[in-house]
Amino acid sequence: MFAHRLAWPNRVNRLAALLEEKRRQGRPILDLTESNPTRVGLDYPVEEIRRAIADPGIAAYEPSARGLSAAREAVAAWHRRRGWVVDPERIVLTASTSEAYALLFKLLADPGETVLVPRPSYPLFDFLAALESVRPVPYPLESDGGWSIDLETLERLAAAQGPGRPRAIVTVNPNNPTGTALRPDELAALEEIAARHDLAVVSDEVFLDYLDDRSTADRSTGTRADRAGSAPHRAVSVLEGEGRALSFVLGGLSKSCGLPQMKLGWIVIRGPQAAAFEALERLELIADTYLSVGAPVQLGAAALLDLGEGIRAQIAARIRHNRAALAAAIGPSSACRLLPSAGGWYAVVQIPAVKSEENTVLALLDQDDVLVHPGYFFDFPHEAFLILSLLPERSTFVEALRRILSRSGAT
Ligand SMILES: Cc1ncc(COP(=O)(O)O)c(C=O)c1O
Repeated sequence: MFAHRLAWPNRVNRLAALLEEKRRQGRPILDLTESNPTRVGLDYPVEEIRRAIADPGIAAYEPSARGLSAAREAVAAWHRRRGWVVDPERIVLTASTSEAYALLFKLLADPGETVLVPRPSYPLFDFLAALESVRPVPYPLESDGGWSIDLETLERLAAAQGPGRPRAIVTVNPNNPTGTALRPDELAALEEIAARHDLAVVSDEVFLDYLDDRSTADRSTGTRADRAGSAPHRAVSVLEGEGRALSFVLGGLSKSCGLPQMKLGWIVIRGPQAAAFEALERLELIADTYLSVGAPVQLGAAALLDLGEGIRAQIAARIRHNRAALAAAIGPSSACRLLPSAGGWYAVVQIPAVKSEENTVLALLDQDDVLVHPGYFFDFPHEAFLILSLLPERSTFVEALRRILSRSGAT
């Protein structure tokens, strides 16, 4: 009856089952998996948002496959404010970054072909790829005090031939949840590998607005020591590369403006002229088949991107505070370790591997009413890691952290 692409094993997730049970019992849960910015007590300018999407033009339907030009201009202006010159004609609007992946996998890969994705990373790749009948092949990020791409393995995977050959290298910059951000030398290597093997680069930069302070400051000065205090490291966008490989850079209101409910994302196309032009034409045809971006959000894009700066600032302040609380709580003599990160909304804490991650997170939920994600959800190569969202309200975060460290034997 049903297509095989949806025949995923129906694994019983013990954490989800326990959470449901707890909620049934009415237990208040300190939720450090929360990644929805509209649920963490931020101050949303509701009146301004309402005005932004109330343009009289919403009465008309003027379908545009790439997106309305005023909206693409607004997205280009948003990039200009960040120091990146982007041609509005090289932008395609989508309903979300997730949809952008779906369009790009359709554009780049035939069923059975593969896309190279970082590991550990965003768990949705498995679903996004499977829905396009494409297979994600992980390339490792090395935890070498910070995180960096294992370029040797990436090169080997990129060179694979045959029916399951790769068509694109996906990078999440900075990565969810490790916070790995591309260094200039890594970006150059990535472009070089992609160009040499005729692969596209897909760079998911939804969290690039949330680089840690030192990375952000360094974008203008050009150097910094990374959080671990070792190698010089500057975080860069794929938009700052030489453009040797055909590249697609993804972003959206969801993270950059804390407005996931508005459903507006974008793809910026870069690279050699002829390839970029052809990609744009083909992408336009795919987008035209769905025309999924609503008129109100497109007509309100400029205003939403402006008012989103205030929401973004609140999120950035929240993350800064919670990360500082975490760094203060996990001292050098602690049995736990806060992994270095260049940015993003998450923190990775390594805990003593005395029991399995699953048993630790189940015990935290069952006995301490604290919900966190285990590292294996994100495909960490070994145990034991906890992934903490840095979005929750400060008091929630600090109390949950106290309970986590106490259970992990770290205090
Ligand atoms: C790395 C990454 N990319 C994309 C998304 C999804 O963004 P959107 O709401 O635009 O689909 C998320 C959401 O958590 C994410 O973590």
